[in-house]
Amino acid sequence: MKLLLTGVTGQLGTAVAEIAPERGVTLVPLVRPARPGQVPFERAFPSLAAAKVTGDVREPLWGLGETDLNALADDVDAVVNLAGDTNWAGSGRDLYAVNVLGARNGYDVARELQRRSGRRVAYVQASSIYVVGGTLGRIAETPLTLDRHRTAYEHSKWLAERELERQHGPGDPDILISRVAALLGDSRTGATRKRNSLYLLAERWDDLPGRVLPAMRGAKVDVLPRDLAAGTLLDAVAGLHRTGPHPEPVITHLSAGERAPTLRALLETARALSPLAFGKWVRLVPASAEQVLWMSANAERFLPLSPAWRNSLIGLRYIGLDRVMERGRLAQLVDGQLPEPSTELLARLLFDLPEPQRPLAPADRGLSRFLA
Ligand SMILES: NC(=O)c1ccc[n+]([C@@H]2O[C@H](COP(=O)([O-])OP(=O)(O)OC[C@H]3O[C@@H](n4cnc5c(N)ncnc54)[C@H](OP(=O)(O)O)[C@@H]3O)[C@@H](O)[C@H]2O)c1
Repeated sequence: MKLLLTGVTGQLGTAVAEIAPERGVTLVPLVRPARPGQVPFERAFPSLAAAKVTGDVREPLWGLGETDLNALADDVDAVVNLAGDTNWAGSGRDLYAVNVLGARNGYDVARELQRRSGRRVAYVQASSIYVVGGTLGRIAETPLTLDRHRTAYEHSKWLAERELERQHGPGDPDILISRVAALLGDSRTGATRKRNSLYLLAERWDDLPGRVLPAMRGAKVDVLPRDLAAGTLLDAVAGLHRTGPHPEPVITHLSAGERAPTLRALLETARALSPLAFGKWVRLVPASAEQVLWMSANAERFLPLSPAWRNSLIGLRYIGLDRVMERGRLAQLVDGQLPEPSTELLARLLFDLPEPQRPLAPADRGLSRFLA
């Protein structure tokens, strides 16, 4: 498979770039022309430098010119849009430009490549499980309706889904909407591009006001290491191609689903793994869904909060609600191979806890049998 990929420098894109060669997937990264203050793309991804095209998802056809479009039409199988404005406390205008227009423009790119090539070209959109807003319980992989609890970020991801559903017609490129769970670093190395998303919990651990964390009883934390998410995403893209054409957009939850640990289990596992890593402990205080949602969206109206704190407070709803993302549709696409990270792995990655030291066998051979 050959993919035109945006967002390669992000958390998920980096993992896709790492895993693509071993899956036999070739990437054409679409990179912004100017990325002030960031490591130049050629230095960060030397093996992809020659294949790169330049563009911006906010522009029509992502700013791709005739030459690029003709070259891409030759052999690209899918357009995969992982670019996003992921600032939970970002401005509605910026979120709309990148997340909604970016999706719409991306679908136009897929249409254009399909038209020029006469081959089927799929379109894949990274959405978010948080698009569900304040919905609780079991959540199906189906379109969602209006929800008054959505934040500006969640609303922009929802509008993008709706826009794609609206755009899709008979004969148009197949669409995969992949609702991504919270991402942690690589499951083997812990490498992470940013300490955003749920890492904010670990970053704020020692400063939580009152040492309390309000959450529903049974609240779950749906989170995946980025490499597991990337591998499953590539499997799903291959599955979309294998099983198409699809008359409707296919929606999947790229998440831990029913295997997501409860918040309590995640925290207690972390403490059991490394009791000395936590100077202070926090108390989980039972709260209703309404309280968690309200607090995470409105505290900034009463407290002077920095952007970092606003992001952290919004994150409360991502660890404090009791809901389960269903994965049946994802399982169909990937032939049953669903990501199932252990709670221990997630706790280690989230709090950066060291691997347990294997005890060394003492010189006394009589004692060493107790350590086997
Ligand atoms: N990480 C999570 O926990 C999580 C959870 C749920 C859903 N998601 C979704 O998954 C996707 C990937 O997330 P991520 O965490 O990998 O994001 P990220 O680390 O914040 O990276 C964002 C990527 O988008 C690119 N980008 C931003 N604006 C762009 C534009 N106008 N044109 C072209 N590229 C642009 C950035 O490129 P530059 O390097 O040029 O800035 C970067 O590669 C997003 O759609 C996000 O909403 C992520």
